[in-house]
Amino acid sequence: MIVLSGIAWVQTDNWWGPLHPVKFNTPKGWPAPVYDFSANPLTKEGIALGKQLFYDGILSKDGMVSCGTCHQSFGGFATYDHSLSHGIENRFSTRNAPGIVNMAWQKNFMWDGGILHLDLQPLAPITAENEMGETLDSVLHKLNTHADYRKKFQQAFGVKKITTLELGKAISQFVLILVSNNSKYDRVMRGDDKFILPEQLGYEMFQQKCITCHPPPFFTDFSFRNAGLAEDEVLQDKGRMRITGKTADSLHFKVPSLRNVALSFPYGHDGRWATLRNVFEHYRSKQTRPLGTDSLLKNGIPLSNYEIGQLTAFLYTLTDSTLITNPAFLPEELNRLQKQERDIHQNKRD
Ligand code: HEC
Ligand code: HEC
Repeated sequence: MIVLSGIAWVQTDNWWGPLHPVKFNTPKGWPAPVYDFSANPLTKEGIALGKQLFYDGILSKDGMVSCGTCHQSFGGFATYDHSLSHGIENRFSTRNAPGIVNMAWQKNFMWDGGILHLDLQPLAPITAENEMGETLDSVLHKLNTHADYRKKFQQAFGVKKITTLELGKAISQFVLILVSNNSKYDRVMRGDDKFILPEQLGYEMFQQKCITCHPPPFFTDFSFRNAGLAEDEVLQDKGRMRITGKTADSLHFKVPSLRNVALSFPYGHDGRWATLRNVFEHYRSKQTRPLGTDSLLKNGIPLSNYEIGQLTAFLYTLTDSTLITNPAFLPEELNRLQKQERDIHQNKRD
């Protein structure tokens, strides 16, 4: 009798656990993550739920825009080929979507650092009228009346009613595992591969001219700086000053990571540079810079065409092809299609 009622209880909606814990691995030589995993321990269930949400249009008003629409795997989880990202009804966001890898080591988010915790980040695009255009009430209502999500939130977090707290935690669990540490650069540093000559020369030059602001292993020092870009007259984006209110922070933007930079064009906070060549032209230009430009860039960085070629070769070694082809990170729909295709080819060969 006891056994039977036990089974009946397990079969109802009340079932919670056992959960499958997942250990977060810090790559060798990297600092400890800043994300507090004790407040949101990774589990297989939580990660799978976060991934489903990340690729689901249910978080947007028209059902068409998911996180993955703007953070595309093949663009290093940035928006590939668009200066400003497209949200619902093809409205434009005002900034270029950054690649969201290695977020476990970041303290504040967005180009201006306006968001202080990764779990809160999803609330911004969901409610921005030019991104996902939704309200939190409506998203939570959709999730709470969705049998599959209700079951999965209960399994992962033991809650009957989904709130923004669990929504943020679930999405964070997936975003946190997007760790990029397997580029050619990383393999060379581990002693498993070798730079060819232009990459090696580019690497040496990078250490002289770029490393203060873009230091490894993240290729950003996470600071906010004015890189000498003139203010866009239409967007009128003052960057960090919008958050701190200090004029000294005018036109300061977060130093972006350069990991997967070959994939994530266009570049800059508003995507104004179409190519890496454009970025280098900006750095070496002798034009007068706006007031408040970082002292390291005030007079530009002298770069010959040869040096630009070598630096580009080095930056290309930061592309992590294991990240962008890992089925664990790709939408399930894409994984299914790719499997179908492989099966078809397999049958043809048989
Ligand atoms: C319409 C396009 C769009 C959608 C949809 C979108 N994002 Fe973003 N995301 C951006 C842009 C643009 C930025 C930079 C915003 C800024 O700096 O003001 C950004 C920034 C971020 C950042 C901070 C990255 C950093 O380095 O600071 C994270 C994390 C992130 N998004 C996660 C998500 C998640 C999770 C979702 C789904 C809930 C999502 N995004 C949906 C465009 C989008
Ligand atoms: C004084 C600090 C500083 C130095 C030195 C510096 N950068 Fe940057 N870099 C920045 C900042 C800040 C941005 C973002 C600018 C913006 O969008 O407003 C940036 C943006 C970039 C981007 C665009 C990336 C993207 O995803 O949008 C690339 C590429 C880049 N830097 C490469 C380099 C290289 C290569 C060097 C050395 C030749 C270098 N940087 C030197 C601060 C610096």
